[in-house]
Parts: sequence; C-alpha cells; structure tokens
Amino acid sequence: MPKPFHLAWFTNFTPGDWTATFTHGGSPWDGKFFVEMAQAMERACFDYIMLEDTLMVSEAYRGSSQAALKHVLQVPKHDPIPLAALIAGGTSRMGVVATMSTMAYPPFMLARVSTTLDHIAGGRFGWNIVTSGEDAAAQNFGMEELPPREARYAMADEYVDLVCRLWDSWEPDAVVKDREHGVYADHTKVHTIDFKGEFFKCRGPLNTVPSPQGRPVFVQAGGSPRGRAFAAKHADSIIATANGIDGMKQYRDEVRGHAIRFGRDPDDIKVLYLVYPVLGETSEEARAKYKRMVTSPNFIEAALASVGSVTDIDFSQFSLDEPLPRLTTNGEQGSLDKFAQWGSGKTLRQLASERFDSALDLIGTPDEVAERMGAAIEAIGGDGFLISTPFQRISRRFITEVCEGLVPALQRRGLVRTEYEGDTLREVLREF
Ligand SMILES: Cc1cc2nc3c(=O)[nH]c(=O)nc-3n(C[C@H](O)[C@H](O)[C@H](O)COP(=O)(O)O)c2cc1C
Repeated sequence: MPKPFHLAWFTNFTPGDWTATFTHGGSPWDGKFFVEMAQAMERACFDYIMLEDTLMVSEAYRGSSQAALKHVLQVPKHDPIPLAALIAGGTSRMGVVATMSTMAYPPFMLARVSTTLDHIAGGRFGWNIVTSGEDAAAQNFGMEELPPREARYAMADEYVDLVCRLWDSWEPDAVVKDREHGVYADHTKVHTIDFKGEFFKCRGPLNTVPSPQGRPVFVQAGGSPRGRAFAAKHADSIIATANGIDGMKQYRDEVRGHAIRFGRDPDDIKVLYLVYPVLGETSEEARAKYKRMVTSPNFIEAALASVGSVTDIDFSQFSLDEPLPRLTTNGEQGSLDKFAQWGSGKTLRQLASERFDSALDLIGTPDEVAERMGAAIEAIGGDGFLISTPFQRISRRFITEVCEGLVPALQRRGLVRTEYEGDTLREVLREF
C-alpha cells in the first residue's frame, strides 16, 4: 500500500460560483453555505479547510476597481474569523485555518483571537501567516505603500516570536480551579513577557487560558527565497503554487533543506500544492468542461486581473499575443513565477488560459485524476494537495464531485485517509 497523502481545501468568504448553471443562488453572507461545505469535506476526511484573506479592493488592473468588482476577484470578501468560528462549531474533526496578516493585526489581538478560536474548535484551529502583498492593503493601515519584502519578513519573524511568547505566558497548569481556596488561576504561573523588539513592544501576559494546541497550527505560503525560508522555519503546513512535478519537488526539497538547517524535523512540515481538478463522468466531459471555462467570455480578463491583484501588476499594459517580459514584484512573487512560466515562450493569452493549470493534467474522471495525483505525489515525495476552484468560485456541485467522487477514488487506492485518528489539527497533520 502507498503512503497516504494529505488534502486541504482552499477557499474564502466570497459569493462562490454565483454565475454557474447549478448554484444555490441565496445569500452567502450568513456563512451557512460554507458550514455545509465544510461538513462535506469533513466527511471526506480533509485535513483542513483554509480560509484565504486579503484586505483591499484591488485597482491593479487598468488602475480601476472595475475588473475586481465585476469578476468578484477578492472582493466582495467578508472576514474569515467569524466564519472560522461558525465552521468550527459545525464540525468536529477537520482543521479550520484562517488567514490573518501580520501587517493588520496587533500581535496581542492575534494571539488572543487564535487562542479563543482554538478553544472553540477543540484544538483544530490554524493560522495562515501572511504579511500582505499589496500597496492597496498597506494604504488601509496608514502606510503610503507596502514595505519591501525583506522588511515584511523581518517584521513577521519578530511577530511570530512575540505571539509565541504570549502563548507561553501562561504555564500549562496555571488554571487550578481550586474551589476550596476560591482560586481560579494561579498568578505565579502567569508571566509578563516584556517584549521589546525592533518593530513591536508588548508587555503581556495574554489574558486568555492556554488553548488545546497551545499555539495554533501555523500555515504559510512563502514563494520567494526569503519566503520559503520563513515558511520552513515556522510552518506546520505550507501551501504552495508550483509548476508541474519538477517545480513541486524543487519547492519541497528546498523547504525541507531549510527546515533541517533550522533544527526542525522536515517531516513535521506538510507541503500542499494548490490544484484545480476538473471532474466529469467521462474524460471527454471533463475536458469539455475545462474548455468551456477557459473560452468563456471574460475569462482572459478575469485571469489577468486576478493574478494582477495579488502581484500588483497591471497586465493590461502587455500585448496578449506576445510573451511576457521578465517581471518581479513586491507582492506574491511565487504566484507571478507560477503564472509566467518564464522561458516557456508562451504568449500572455496562453499564460492566462493556463492560469489554473497545475501541469499535472488533473482533468478527467475521478479515477483518472486520482491515479495522476497518486503518481505525482510519489514522484514529488509528498505531502499532498490543496484543492481549489478558479477565482475561488466554490459550488455545492464541485464540492460533491470532489468529496463524493474524487476522494472515494483516492481512498480506494489507499492514497488518502478514510478516518481521522488525531484529535487536534497538529496531530491530524502528523498522522502520516
Ligand atoms: C496557496 C496560497 C495562498 C495564499 N493565501 C494568501 C492569503 O490568504 N492572503 C495573503 O495576503 N496572501 C496569501 N498568499 C501569499 C503568501 O502569503 C505569500 O505572500 C506569497 O506566497 C508570496 O511569497 P513571497 O512573499 O515569499 O514572495 C498565498 C499564497 C499562496 C501560494
């Protein structure tokens, strides 16, 4: 039997696939649709659902918010934290991961809300550590522009150090609940941290009771060399965009190498690759579905505006029928590299039409796709996949195709779990 791999779902609090033929059509904003979706993923034994987040209305495409609002590209998007609490309350085994930016949250608030959520989730909460990557987001927090990547990661390193100290500011046995003497918590076991860093100061202690996991599971997605090192230092799970088996293997080998240098066991880090499977009753049906998507009106514009919003690059300035010039960004470099396929000679139009192609050919029947996923992980060495939908257009229909088509096909091959063993998210991630 092969070693099983991990599965997580990548989504956000946006309206989902509101234009689809088969769609629920109601309001998504009470969050109930997402709770139901999470329950389906939990029945399929996913490791976690990951709620992505950004903090701006992008004007990167043509200097206007038109494309972002028209195509629902990151906006409108509601806050993932209350949704994470709702999902945690509606599930019992699957991890719930929410994104919070080190640029936006004061460290004390992040430590406190994470502890609160880890209690609500019974030890299943994870924090997706992001530094934000757009000038428009920085401008919502009083800055003129986004600090350079190096500074953002230096701040994030210090930030993680600080919040870990806050989580450790209560000794594990500080809560005594001594009824005889009327003592709830022993004050000699709750300590200030007196943190004075280059960027942050915090006195502590935290004012919350230590949570089941002590600290949340850390998820990260560093794409740049600096980002990969940050992820390798801190993360329990890394979510990665990479092109094809070679790109995925190179990414994983690199972060595992960094992890060893940081004195960590590389097996404690689960690297999950972002993929967008397309499923059908037959291969032809799946391919027709894929073709319908990439040739649909506005697909090219939406693809360019969506990659533009996370890279802060206006792709409307380049010719669609020529290769893209070499570019770098202070935003998501990894997403840019994955999109641009440097050196391929492809035109911008081709690149846009391949925006959601992982180069693993995950288009086909559940059995075909399961077979290819298994072969890919075997060649890469691990650790699993982060499943998503183009433009985060989640639908009940697609969730059913994955959870009741693809996952059972993977389970029949022994490639994913059929039940949870661990209780906390960290334990679930380390099951294999
Ligand atoms: C799968 C995936 C999910 C991400 N989710 C978010 C997110 O929710 N919010 C955010 O601000 N950045 C998100 N990012 C961006 C990363 O945090 C990071 O900035 C990006 O991977 C670029 O890495 P770099 O900063 O090292 O270049 C995500 C990236 C990837 C690949």
